[in-house]
Amino acid sequence: MDESFATLIFKDDTLTLIDQRILPAEVSYVTCKTFEDVEFAIRDMIVRGAPAIGSAAAYGVYLAALQCPDDADFKKACKFLSLARPTAVNLGWAINRMLATYEHNIKQPRAELLNLLLAEADSIREEDIKTNKLMSRIGAAVVPQKATILTHCNTGALATAGWGTALGVIKTAFYDKKDIFVYADETRPRFQGARLTAWELMEAKIPSKLIPDSAAATLIRDGKIDLVLLGGDRVAANGDVANKLGTFALSVICKAYGIPFYSVVPVSTIDFSIPDGSAIPIEERDAEEVTHVQGVQVAPKGMDVYNPAFDVTPHQNLTGIITEKGIIYPPFKENIERLERGETL
Ligand code: MRU
Repeated sequence: MDESFATLIFKDDTLTLIDQRILPAEVSYVTCKTFEDVEFAIRDMIVRGAPAIGSAAAYGVYLAALQCPDDADFKKACKFLSLARPTAVNLGWAINRMLATYEHNIKQPRAELLNLLLAEADSIREEDIKTNKLMSRIGAAVVPQKATILTHCNTGALATAGWGTALGVIKTAFYDKKDIFVYADETRPRFQGARLTAWELMEAKIPSKLIPDSAAATLIRDGKIDLVLLGGDRVAANGDVANKLGTFALSVICKAYGIPFYSVVPVSTIDFSIPDGSAIPIEERDAEEVTHVQGVQVAPKGMDVYNPAFDVTPHQNLTGIITEKGIIYPPFKENIERLERGETL
């Protein structure tokens, strides 16, 4: 069953986004009519999750082309969009795909060029939904008939153009009538788990419980978790995965207790140009995300803060990386090279 809401809709030269900053307290929508609006929506996390950021940015490039008839201005706008958030590679991936369409059709009449750019942005969005369904079907194979699954952050329809990655696998297993139970980490400091994953799990009627992030270790030690499924924002060529802060710690605990640990990502999240996780740029966000909870100050005024939004899980801690082209198992570097050459996994 597909979700009852849309993460992003593009109509009449306007991008409409469900406002993920205030869900689930309010289900409201924000409209973006310019590339500057789209950049702000990505930076301020109105739209978030690597694949959803990519889709939104693609429409941002179309709006930039609409606003900027001059080539240099258009390229400047694309650069500006690409800097909205640094870690998720899908942002640059989608912008580069749009730029390739632009360069390829630069000699076309302007109206035709704009049509082609809009068609490419629509393709990026539609392909994402298809890709998610495909990798969910592939991933559901690793979910036992009866399983308790732990997940982190939000990897559902809200994090993508629709359906989801790791949460897509979970939904597919559930609709396949597997007897599953999900523990969702609240995912501090932005509470993507408490606000967004909990909302999506309840919408889908999947048996589940929300836990404070720090409760995961005890559940794993006590044998309450059969597997961990989560997303990824950038996968390096050796299989190291940058994902929401807290993923690395979970991976260490799972390794210690022999619990299967999978990252679920579209191939567009693999950055073949980055040899290992140490080269992945990690976004640091505002101190206020940590000193305040939903606008209420909880730390003393003036306290210094370190707030990385992501961390890197070394490939040695992963059981596998689930993609729409199949599951990448160790040796990750060799198998990612095979994937890049177009060989089947
Ligand atoms: O900061 P966010 O909310 O954009 O971070 C999102 C994540 O880390 C997700 O796990 C990741 O993008 C995968 S979503 C399919």
